[in-house]
Amino acid sequence: MNNTLGRIIRVTLFGESHGASIGAVIDGLHAMIPVKEDEIASALMARRPVGAISTARREADRFQIVSGIFRGMTNGSPVCILIPNEDTRSEDYGENLTLLRPGHADFTSHIRNYGHEDFRGGGHFSGRLTAPLVAAGAVVRSALEAKGIKIGTHILEIAGVSDRAFESVPDVESVKYSSFPVLTEEAGEKMRAAIEAARADGDSVGGVLETAVTGVPAGVGDPWFGTVEGQLSYAAFSVPAVKGIEFGRGFALSHMRGSEANDPFTVADHRVRTATNNCGGVLGGLTTGSPIVFKTAVKPTPTISKEQKTVDISKGEDTVIFSRGRHDPCIVHRAAVVMSSLTALVVADMLAVKAAEQELAL
Ligand SMILES: Cc1cc2nc3c(=O)[nH]c(=O)nc-3n(C[C@H](O)[C@H](O)[C@H](O)COP(=O)(O)O)c2cc1C
Repeated sequence: MNNTLGRIIRVTLFGESHGASIGAVIDGLHAMIPVKEDEIASALMARRPVGAISTARREADRFQIVSGIFRGMTNGSPVCILIPNEDTRSEDYGENLTLLRPGHADFTSHIRNYGHEDFRGGGHFSGRLTAPLVAAGAVVRSALEAKGIKIGTHILEIAGVSDRAFESVPDVESVKYSSFPVLTEEAGEKMRAAIEAARADGDSVGGVLETAVTGVPAGVGDPWFGTVEGQLSYAAFSVPAVKGIEFGRGFALSHMRGSEANDPFTVADHRVRTATNNCGGVLGGLTTGSPIVFKTAVKPTPTISKEQKTVDISKGEDTVIFSRGRHDPCIVHRAAVVMSSLTALVVADMLAVKAAEQELAL
């Protein structure tokens, strides 16, 4: 089982959706990193459900810092953040106990754990576990910002309704800790209406997120097995419901000629820069110094209030399922801050690895 991300700054995730608590342990943080509890609270707030377009499960996400922080700073020991589960209604799952939810992890988890998994609310596979990831991300995010590194994720598309792409650093800053991060309010209203329509129909919708990281210097990352794309993808696919990723122009690059796809180099402010950013800020697995830009595809929420064909695992028979549990008609907006938080953890770890390797040389 691997519930740990990172090489130097390592985050370990624990808990289940309907267990007593969920949480994260962050190891490898040097002492003296300022940690603001209101930053963690704002990040968690951005992940919480909003109005009718989200699940009716309303967790307060009251967090407790159990260790690793002393007088507002890391103290060099592991930081443990605990978030109690307070709004569980496990009885919703009672009658469907042995029915596999199509699109969810019920089947694969059942096989992997020989039926001993905590199935309530998706157990350890639940999107609920993204809360401690967001809290862990907030711990490193202000330290990155102090170094001029900003991270933002916005909704590029929901149910076919598109917003414009990131164009500037203020764009990236503007969506930080927004619970429905859009760049144009008009697009946001149409997206909300599409989610509402899916919910009214007992169905769900998916979409696309765009994430940007600005201020990372050139030359961060590793070739081959430690590429920036590889590490960010590894983290991105830990977010439940993420099914695709592309960096820069991604798949569109495959239709271009080299003359169109290549980003020309230029000197600006005594530094080599790329004039365009089709490569998404990464060449050879290393940062170019331009923003790292990537998009992730988020599928529609698997649990829906419509009858679906499935199997009763206890009987080995075909049957139908109609889910009564509380669930999100759309996950996309809630996943945005999760993507930024994981990105922060990956970027912090890549910088730590580079600094550690440089120690003997520079
Ligand atoms: C913030 C967040 C909330 C989620 N809420 C739900 C939910 O209410 N119902 C549901 O069926 N899936 C939800 N999911 C998605 C499932 O956890 C996910 O689809 C499932 O674990 C299967 O994993 P996979 O889609 O990555 O294959 C949520 C995901 C995230 C990121």
